[in-house]
Amino acid sequence: MDKQEKFYVTTPIYYVTDAPHIGNTYPTVAADIIARWHRLRGEKVFFLTGTDEHGEKVQKAADAAKEEPKVFVDKISLRYKEAWKTLGISYDKFIRTTDPEHLDAVARFISKLVENGDVYKGQYEGWYCVPDESFFTELQLKDGKCPDCGREVKRVKEDSYFFKLSKYQDRLLELYDKNEDFLSPKLRRQEVINRVKGGLKDVSMTRTTVKWAVPFPGDKDHFVYVWVDALINYISALGWPDGTFKVFWPADVHIVGKEINWFHSVIWPAMLMSAGIELPAMIFAHGWWTSEGKKMSKSLGNFVDPVSLSSKYSVDAIRYFLMREMPFGEDGDFSEESLKARINGELVADLGNLVYRVLTLAEKFDGKFDGSADLEKHLDVVGIDESMDRLDYYGALEKIWAFIRSSNKYINDNKVWSLKGAEMSNALYNLLEACRICSILLYPFMPDTAQSIAQQLGVEMGTLKDCKFGAFTGKPKRGKMLFEKVLTK
Ligand code: MSP
Repeated sequence: MDKQEKFYVTTPIYYVTDAPHIGNTYPTVAADIIARWHRLRGEKVFFLTGTDEHGEKVQKAADAAKEEPKVFVDKISLRYKEAWKTLGISYDKFIRTTDPEHLDAVARFISKLVENGDVYKGQYEGWYCVPDESFFTELQLKDGKCPDCGREVKRVKEDSYFFKLSKYQDRLLELYDKNEDFLSPKLRRQEVINRVKGGLKDVSMTRTTVKWAVPFPGDKDHFVYVWVDALINYISALGWPDGTFKVFWPADVHIVGKEINWFHSVIWPAMLMSAGIELPAMIFAHGWWTSEGKKMSKSLGNFVDPVSLSSKYSVDAIRYFLMREMPFGEDGDFSEESLKARINGELVADLGNLVYRVLTLAEKFDGKFDGSADLEKHLDVVGIDESMDRLDYYGALEKIWAFIRSSNKYINDNKVWSLKGAEMSNALYNLLEACRICSILLYPFMPDTAQSIAQQLGVEMGTLKDCKFGAFTGKPKRGKMLFEKVLTK
């Protein structure tokens, strides 16, 4: 199959220590939107998500719950699946790192690194942050604490196998140089390049003290470090080296949070180089949400639960808000007041109002909807598609909204409600086509809303190639309001 026709997107796989929250809902919704966008383009899409189930952190959570690790991870993993169902996540596969096929792939992958002479035995001595499952040197610590999350680190001294990351410094720098998009978005590029230029240390890839892990092939005292195990999910899920791997690999984009960018932009490509496997096209590192101005944390109890949020607000409004509040890549703050402001302003007053007004007038009009495409000049499908290529959801929504606002303005400027005959026919033709095209463009972001618009227009949901003015062939019938106004403080 032509590479152009396939699209493979992944989310990070989530630690099954607790139920999902808005922080890990974010990359999942982002991946869902881009997967749906590529399906609209007519491409063959594979969208992977799942759960990261081994390691010290998960083991500790199971111990705290007084449960066997496997029983515990089965339960939490299910909560992720349920949450993604509620949020309309259209994944093609949900991988669990406790899946037998994955365990097998990890052992095979590591054997390749060993065969290629990139693994040696030594001793690791340094610091370890359990919540982040990350090793740090003395110099990397900030005030004696984890430089990423600020929590306590512990001293670790144990025998370990190492992966020769240092060997790949030049090849990594060449990769970044030749592939502009590999490190995305642009604002993250330089920090990775500078750090790699500063020199790479070999990385510890096994532990002897953590046994809730994949056994290391060839040495029964060693267990695979959870990050090495986790990264391999992106190919094990495809049945590497056969099956769908042949169709979908390399990944078109791995969506990751900025704090795990290093593992994906540096360690993962070096591991793939060592195993002789093609590299992904893009690593996109998104930013972080705070909650009502504060870092989300267990101790503060301010984790936003997407499932309970969806019993208060529509799933589509939540999905829209996540992509609209800040550009993908930057940090932002989650607050219910801002969510409400977006619902009342953009979803009710702009989009909902447009569809409601157009459908009310169209239902009453007795005649054909016909005319010249006056509104098409406000529509920039190529620009929207280009934004989506860069995972610039924010930019794409701005352009879609410019079109929605122009359509509302057209109603007001032309006093459409007072028009008659051919003038009314022309105006309604434009507005119905605008609504139809919006239903397609909005579908990846708000699937239920988009389908409701198409249904009210009496048309089939189209694809991206239908995003141009043509003949309007629907039979409009106004349905219920797309969004309800919500009370603000
Ligand atoms: N298990 C690893 C990933 C392995 S991928 C091979 C992991 N899991 S995680 O559950 O801790 O985090 C998963 C993702 O959720 C990360 O991309 C992280 O950035 C994201 N978020 C967690 N909290 C977040 C916010 N408060 N805001 C935005 N995203 C954050 O890391």
